[in-house]
Amino acid sequence: METDLSALVNAESGSVSRRIFADETIYRKELERIFARTWLFLCHESQLAAPGDYFATYMGEDPVIVCRARDGVIRAFLNSCQHRGMKVCREPAGNARAFTCIYHGWTYDECGRLVSVPYEEQAYGRPVDRDGRSLTRVPRLESYGGFVFGCWDDKVEALDTWLGDLRFHLDVFIERSLGGLEALSGVQRYRCDGNWKLPADNFAGDDYHVPWTHGSYLKLGVVSPQYAEARAYTVAFPYGHGIGDIHLAGEPLVADREFAQRFGPEAAEYVEAVYARAAERLGEPRNRIAAFGHGNIFPNFSLNDFSALWPVGIYLWHPRGPREMEVWQWCLVDRDAPASVRETAMGLFTQVQSAAGAFGQDDSENFEQASAATRGAVAQRQDFDYTMGLGKPFEDDAAQVLPGEVGPHFSEHCQRGFYREWRRLMTGGES
Ligand code: FES
Ligand code: FE
Repeated sequence: METDLSALVNAESGSVSRRIFADETIYRKELERIFARTWLFLCHESQLAAPGDYFATYMGEDPVIVCRARDGVIRAFLNSCQHRGMKVCREPAGNARAFTCIYHGWTYDECGRLVSVPYEEQAYGRPVDRDGRSLTRVPRLESYGGFVFGCWDDKVEALDTWLGDLRFHLDVFIERSLGGLEALSGVQRYRCDGNWKLPADNFAGDDYHVPWTHGSYLKLGVVSPQYAEARAYTVAFPYGHGIGDIHLAGEPLVADREFAQRFGPEAAEYVEAVYARAAERLGEPRNRIAAFGHGNIFPNFSLNDFSALWPVGIYLWHPRGPREMEVWQWCLVDRDAPASVRETAMGLFTQVQSAAGAFGQDDSENFEQASAATRGAVAQRQDFDYTMGLGKPFEDDAAQVLPGEVGPHFSEHCQRGFYREWRRLMTGGES
């Protein structure tokens, strides 16, 4: 019997069926209806600085190569040979003139065109039609502020429309960097036995877990208490995007000034320069936002940005079945940040939210064990509870400057928006 997917999520009452975190059939539909239909983050343009630079990633479970060709244009195509499906690129990143399949040697250029077939005359007795055998192209590719997204659906709305008011918040870290953002080399990859939606909904607006799940780490004082105590908000956007932990300037500037003392005088000057640049570039009221906090761009691209002195963290929750995901993460830094800030960036990043980081381990434990405790026959009867903030009025004059649906930092309205979008796509576009 066909599952009624619309009955599995009721964002209005804040209930979500546990089946969507465990069911193989639903998972296969997610690959078709979400990952093959909506915009997905691929990489940052700084990872493709020179002609021939490429980055191998995934769109759902489909491997793709993102490549800057000699004409300077970035393209993306399926990393699967047209002959028998072998991956034509097996390196995670690099620079190439062509991609040669190791199975039988068909070779594709940096635009994905088939350019060479070994023993062509002997094997086929005729020229092999090149045009019909290019690597399958990702038909839509657009960038915002250096962040490259692709989509398999050529009729999808423009990336700018889809990001909407979220751009207002992304601009905070895009525009405040003095020399532009660039990716530090190295992508950390690890498997996690949890459903991909759990970290996505966590980053989309779950500030509620921070003082509890990460309480022991916060008590160590590694993160300045001023960061932890600053006022924060959660903001939901159309298309399922959400941000938790947005801070308004004021308290964070004080915290950044204090944190800069650990780096030395050049870092103190840098903090002042970054805030001055934000004021100049962003203008009112955007210059009042100090940091993005943590957020999720639907479906599986999360970011964090806590301060002028921390790197911008990028996280992809690649789905690998209803019960498993592959976590990929890397970070961006300001090209013109002082050496002391750049050198510490990777350390700060991996110390906190990574496979061996304090926050990352805390979170993975939750994602894995919540997934495991959700699969049983009895557990499957009980819905997840996303009712926090429903019917609770929220008024805060300071937060009026923020576009989007603003709520207090303990709220689940961003997660309700995430699952509302999940249901819309899974049911063919209806709200
Ligand atoms: Fe690639 Fe045969 S699978 S050449
Ligand atoms: Fe966490």
